[in-house]
Amino acid sequence: MTQAQYSTQDGIAIITLANPPVNGLGHELRTGIVEGVRKAETDPAVSAIVITGAGKAFSGGADIREFNTPKALAEPNLGMVIRVVEGAAKPVVAAIHSVAMGGGLELALGCHYRVASPGAQIALPEVKLGLVPGAGGTQRLPRVVPLDMAVNIIVSGNPVPSEKFKGTQLFDAIYESDLLANAVAFAKQVVAEKKGRPKVRDRKVEFADAEAFLRFARNTAQSVAPNFPAPVKCIDAIAGAVNLPFEQGLKEERRMFVELVQTPESRAMRHAFFGERAAGKIPDVPADTPVREIKAAAVIGAGTMGGGIAMNFANAGIPVTILETAQEALDKGLATIRKNYENSARKGRLKPAEVEKRMALLRPTLSYDDIKDADIVIEAVFEDIGVKEKVFKQLDAVMKPGAILASNTSTLDLNRIAAFTRRPQDVIGTHFFSPANVMKLLEIVRGEKTGKDVLATTMQLSKKLRKTGVVSGVCDGFIGNRMIEQYFRQAGYLVEEGASPQQVDKAIEKWGFAMGPFRMGDLAGNDVGWYIRKRRYQERPDMKYPRLMDKVCELGRFGQKTGAGMYRYQPGKRDALPDPVIDQLIARHREEIGVTPRKISDDEIVHRLLLALVNEGARILEEGIAMRASDIDMIYLTGYGFPLHRGGPMLYADVMGLYNVVDRMKQFAANPHGDAAFWTPAPLLAKLAAEGKSFNG
Ligand SMILES: NC(=O)c1ccc[n+]([C@@H]2O[C@H](COP(=O)([O-])OP(=O)(O)OC[C@H]3O[C@@H](n4cnc5c(N)ncnc54)[C@H](O)[C@@H]3O)[C@@H](O)[C@H]2O)c1
Repeated sequence: MTQAQYSTQDGIAIITLANPPVNGLGHELRTGIVEGVRKAETDPAVSAIVITGAGKAFSGGADIREFNTPKALAEPNLGMVIRVVEGAAKPVVAAIHSVAMGGGLELALGCHYRVASPGAQIALPEVKLGLVPGAGGTQRLPRVVPLDMAVNIIVSGNPVPSEKFKGTQLFDAIYESDLLANAVAFAKQVVAEKKGRPKVRDRKVEFADAEAFLRFARNTAQSVAPNFPAPVKCIDAIAGAVNLPFEQGLKEERRMFVELVQTPESRAMRHAFFGERAAGKIPDVPADTPVREIKAAAVIGAGTMGGGIAMNFANAGIPVTILETAQEALDKGLATIRKNYENSARKGRLKPAEVEKRMALLRPTLSYDDIKDADIVIEAVFEDIGVKEKVFKQLDAVMKPGAILASNTSTLDLNRIAAFTRRPQDVIGTHFFSPANVMKLLEIVRGEKTGKDVLATTMQLSKKLRKTGVVSGVCDGFIGNRMIEQYFRQAGYLVEEGASPQQVDKAIEKWGFAMGPFRMGDLAGNDVGWYIRKRRYQERPDMKYPRLMDKVCELGRFGQKTGAGMYRYQPGKRDALPDPVIDQLIARHREEIGVTPRKISDDEIVHRLLLALVNEGARILEEGIAMRASDIDMIYLTGYGFPLHRGGPMLYADVMGLYNVVDRMKQFAANPHGDAAFWTPAPLLAKLAAEGKSFNG
């Protein structure tokens, strides 16, 4: 069946867009629309046309399945379809329900009339992919809604419900029910009253002092998103609607679209968009794998992580029982959760009634008897294999058959944990990031024996909890922390050689990271890394480590929680202040290891930190711990403050060119204080570089 279904009703042709799930404007649908319009034009029994969408959308815009394929631009392209609709010999009415986004809205703007249901989501989200709308959106929208409203919609990319457009000329009518029947009646009325075929393009943008407003909007966009070119370009394109003849404005919009597609920022944003979708696909776990129902959850441990994890369930409306060993710990954990919710309410992010609603979903307990019926239990107790063993044996004994037993461990061997139970197929790692109620990332650790349905269920759960779920195999540190260890090692070397901690942090923050390595260490607790390093010194005596951070830890300087780390902190404040004690410690340490400090450029700092991530990422990919390079990037974008406009470490390496990556690593290895073993390119990286290939294909 064609994707643009044609029917007639009372002398009105109805073209129904039918390309599930959201009627994406793929090639077949575009062709079908043109054919439908042509058929209606030549049918003497038809006096007008209604375009409507089947299922759950009018149209969500471009068909993302066609992205990066020749079909995306094949004629009839969307611009051509809109020209056909706009130039149709008979009036065309768009009947919009549910969703009209991107190209879907641009198509509607090409129609002579638009009617809608309330609650339809109206948006031009192209800016979120680093682009401007490419089929007239920036030219037509400001002609039917006030200029400031158009700018907000286009620059934010966020959806606005249809009823908010009352009083504008976007919609000719909003119908509470029976949209299609009403649209047909509307079309008949248009014909009866000879209202003709008004075109949006023929309107003028009316706005007092548009130039001043656009200048203000440009400045705001520049300061809010300095690393992204698209928002300002959106405003430039809209300015064309104000200042230029329509056709010329359209051409300018197209020119900007083509220009932006080439930018690394847009490439990065599209990579993240598709990376998020790709992460949900597991080659050997088909989409139709049965999932287990998650109606009730339990969390073991009400500490830093347990509390945050429990909040995720409450936020998603899933009741969650929290188990602790002592009433005091339980009370403390629940008080922290309440405080977090009340803070959100104070900041206006949560309605006060919601606080109580969510708190009511949390059930504290000291007894395993109260959790045995949970569909999933997430363990977040101390990071100690002995404690985990006790907990998992107990869970194995009490939990109902089919319950998922998850561990939030960040460093321990999940296969060992699974082996504490008689049901390793039900055991999985759910590695949340701190603060667990805020951070988007959920590393889902697939054990050797984890069942496919358990994996599919946990992936689905990650969506319900509004997390980006990324699968990792079992290894020390999993994907994210295994890579960050190398990044921290490199940060230590940089200071040993001559950079100050502030210079290292500032250089990578200027490059775009949310937080440099030393500020990050002070926030997370330097003792965590120290504990791991002490283990490494036993396990891998061959591996060189900069010992500076150990000396910082030996002073009890664990970071913000102890009031001092690589920086000092004033009581109750989080500002990282340089500390002369650290300067002296660094100077003494350099003397002890016989290093004469040298000046290190910011560029060297940034690339040594990044390429440390890239090289370990390549190993992780080669070992199959990560399924694909974009999964690694998603982990860094959503869990480690990697800047979105750079797209993640692996994409950055691709953009740099893997040959150049290897070449740079050779230079780093040749540095007299360089660690040649550190900079030996991972075999996969060396191979791809030699073949002129990239990580992301
Ligand atoms: N803190 C982080 O940034 C972070 C990030 C990711 C993962 N993790 C992992 O999450 C887990 C918990 O870490 P945390 O930082 O929340 O620790 P925490 O010390 O803040 O909390 C642990 C809690 O578990 C409770 N507990 C200990 N033994 C218990 C038992 N047998 N039964 C029930 N409760 C018990 C303790 O009373 C405490 O409240 C660890 O495995 C850790 O590696 C931590």
